[in-house]
Amino acid sequence: MMNALESRLRADLDAFRRDGVYKRLNWLDSPQAPRVRMEGRGEVIILSSNNYLGFCDHPEVVQAGKDALDRYGAGTGSVRFICGTFTIHRELEQACAELVGTEASLSFVSCWNANEALPGTVLTEHDLVLSDQLNHASIIDGIRLAKAITKCQTGVYRHGDLDDLRAKLRAAADRKVKMVITDGIFSMEGAIAKLPELAQLCRDEGAVLVVDDSHATGVLGATGRGTAEHFGMVGEVDIITSTLGKALGGAAGGFVAGSGAVCDYLTQRARPQLFSNALPPTVAGSALASIRLLQRQPDRVATLRENARYFRTQLQEAGFRPLPGETPIIPVILGETAAAIRMSEMLLDEGVFVTGFGFPVVPQGEARVRCQISAAHTRADLDEALAAFRSVGRKLGLV
Ligand SMILES: Cc1ncc(COP(=O)(O)O)c(C=O)c1O
Repeated sequence: MMNALESRLRADLDAFRRDGVYKRLNWLDSPQAPRVRMEGRGEVIILSSNNYLGFCDHPEVVQAGKDALDRYGAGTGSVRFICGTFTIHRELEQACAELVGTEASLSFVSCWNANEALPGTVLTEHDLVLSDQLNHASIIDGIRLAKAITKCQTGVYRHGDLDDLRAKLRAAADRKVKMVITDGIFSMEGAIAKLPELAQLCRDEGAVLVVDDSHATGVLGATGRGTAEHFGMVGEVDIITSTLGKALGGAAGGFVAGSGAVCDYLTQRARPQLFSNALPPTVAGSALASIRLLQRQPDRVATLRENARYFRTQLQEAGFRPLPGETPIIPVILGETAAAIRMSEMLLDEGVFVTGFGFPVVPQGEARVRCQISAAHTRADLDEALAAFRSVGRKLGLV
């Protein structure tokens, strides 16, 4: 007989299928690159990867992972403070700090892990943490965990609304530490946080500003140093979290960057550091090579920006109404979740892989297909993808 859990899960999965919101995995048989080999489909153009700089399959990045595997083996075999930490972790952490413009950084096995560790480790019951309404799920869960662990006060301010944030900070004048967390680039919109105004407000109200730059590292600023560089504010953000799983090699891993004290305290007390293994050396090696490559070839960031500008304007000329912006995240809003999934399936039939996103990842009624552009896309890749958009757009009566 089926147990209660099994029967509930199966019923829910059936409902997902019926409602057209069931996520089907697409199996790839080649590295992430502008064109990939997809099982059952052959070659398709990917427009839904965070491989912004094209480093996932870059020979130097791949070789650095192999070298680190040869030199350090598969991993630490336990957590860092118990059985030692590799010198490549120290080198990577110095490179991450230098890249984003902070005194220090500490690596985690993912940025999810970094975001989950930060508030719950450094805050107490005397403190407050406020989160932008559209922040990434890892920030939301990190704050939920912080509330459960520390009994700190938590709140959400309306997306990008500085008046709402100011009011919420002022209403919490009794709090010893006030922390504000925002995405640098909001991943479902492609919008950039208003960093100058946020930083000024945090200074005025005595709050600590944390920016999750996962989609901005390697992407924003003349040399890819992120949201702070975009606004000419490198060194002015208190704490930055970011991922190594997108522009910087695309494997996995994340970090918290900030003062030496913040990173040391996390080393002492963050539970994912104390009770979970370090980043595998292969991944540390590839990420380190990615940072070095970015520093040697900052023109990749300019190519990325130009590719994104081209794709966005061509989509507009084809009659689509992508959300306005200047980042390589280009969403086209369609309304219902099933419409977004249908469009993404039709695009795949035409050889273009673009993911459809619906509720609860984005608000109800604002389902979308989200295009992500890479510096590695050639003009031919982008033009072929645009032809597929025109064809599917016509079939669906959108253009
Ligand atoms: C803003 C933001 N933060 C954190 C993460 C999680 O990063 P990771 O894949 O390193 O856990 C993501 C990934 O989608 C993200 O978009």
